[in-house]
Amino acid sequence: MTVALGSPSLSRLQPLFTAFRLGSLVLPNRIVMAPMTRCSAVDGVPGEGVASYYRQRAENGVGLIISEGIGVDHAAALGTGTLGESNLPVLHGAKPVARWKAIVDQVHGAGGRIFAQLWHQGPVRMPGTGPHPDAPSCRPSGRWGPLAGNTSATAQYLAEVRRQTPAMSESAIADVIAAYGRTAANARAAGFDGLAIHGAHGYLIDSFLWGVTNVRNDAWGGSLRARTRFACEVIKEVRRAGGGLPVVFRFSQWKLQDYDARLVDTPAGLEHLLEPLAEAGVDVFDASTRQFHLPAFAGSQRTLAGWTRHLSGLPVMAVGGVGLDRELKDSLLEDVLAADNAQIAARGIEQGEFDLIGVGRALLADPDWVGKLRSGALLPDFRSSLFAGEPVQP
Ligand SMILES: Cc1cc2nc3c(=O)[nH]c(=O)nc-3n(C[C@H](O)[C@H](O)[C@H](O)COP(=O)(O)O)c2cc1C
Repeated sequence: MTVALGSPSLSRLQPLFTAFRLGSLVLPNRIVMAPMTRCSAVDGVPGEGVASYYRQRAENGVGLIISEGIGVDHAAALGTGTLGESNLPVLHGAKPVARWKAIVDQVHGAGGRIFAQLWHQGPVRMPGTGPHPDAPSCRPSGRWGPLAGNTSATAQYLAEVRRQTPAMSESAIADVIAAYGRTAANARAAGFDGLAIHGAHGYLIDSFLWGVTNVRNDAWGGSLRARTRFACEVIKEVRRAGGGLPVVFRFSQWKLQDYDARLVDTPAGLEHLLEPLAEAGVDVFDASTRQFHLPAFAGSQRTLAGWTRHLSGLPVMAVGGVGLDRELKDSLLEDVLAADNAQIAARGIEQGEFDLIGVGRALLADPDWVGKLRSGALLPDFRSSLFAGEPVQP
């Protein structure tokens, strides 16, 4: 099934097509391509088709692209994750940097803007995998996650990752923070328009934030405030090395280790989480949810993005389920139908609940999703094979 929007619906979409200023950047509209790993980077070098893949989305009206997760310059940044990922890109060394520069140039040539997403898998990386199999995986307290979380990870993966490993040492922590800085500097050199820090989904930064994976009792753990310290140091280092590029910080309640996990249970808790991150230098929060329009806490209809904006006063991106009727984890095995919920996103922007809206799978399904939305044409369904690695239309 596909969905066509009549003209009354189109006028209700108008807030999505208003410009947005982010520092010195003016985005032509509020639609952001969400970061999506494609596993096409042999030896860490993005594949030949990657430039045209991003260029097509820019040509077809995406306001801002956030790149797929790019491994930071650290031996344990990348490896096999919960879904068996491989061929993940990096942004250090002559070839990867040159290829990313060519990609950025193509996006700019099409009038687009692109931020680099900086990624360290932390505890999610299966030990003994990735470009440097001997490097120990980075875990704040040696823990992968809970023993019985709601996860899509395979039994084989779980058997490998659940073993307790040594906690990160002070020097290991310092090394990783420095790696973020080097990669941010390379992103700047490659011409990226901004830096997006992946602080969500149970990966390294999130594993410091999360009380299940961070049970340290030194300066990096204990209270929620102390658990934000690692994220804050990364934000400061990325800001410093990025030389003025805008910094987006992605966080989430849900984790790959447990879709039902929560970092905080109340708006007051969220405020304690956000305050130090904002002080460290975040320009935009990316509140990653699987369904952007759902209430974040009992007793209010406000979404996670809405609370984030309300509490931090900073610009916020909402994401999750735009244009599709089922959430991310449902599409791992089954096809998902198109839905016309972009109107809810437009209303959220109009009412000041959030500023930007991320679109993931719908933009994999069709490079011209924005054009189709805008003209009222049929919107595409999402085939689960696209998630699993079927090459997308470039
Ligand atoms: C194939 C695929 C790869 C993804 N890779 C990343 C990633 O590299 N970094 C990240 O932060 N999120 C990643 N995500 C999550 C998306 O950014 C987005 O938050 C999620 O898909 C929800 O948006 P959607 O419902 O519009 O797809 C990925 C999602 C998909 C479908």
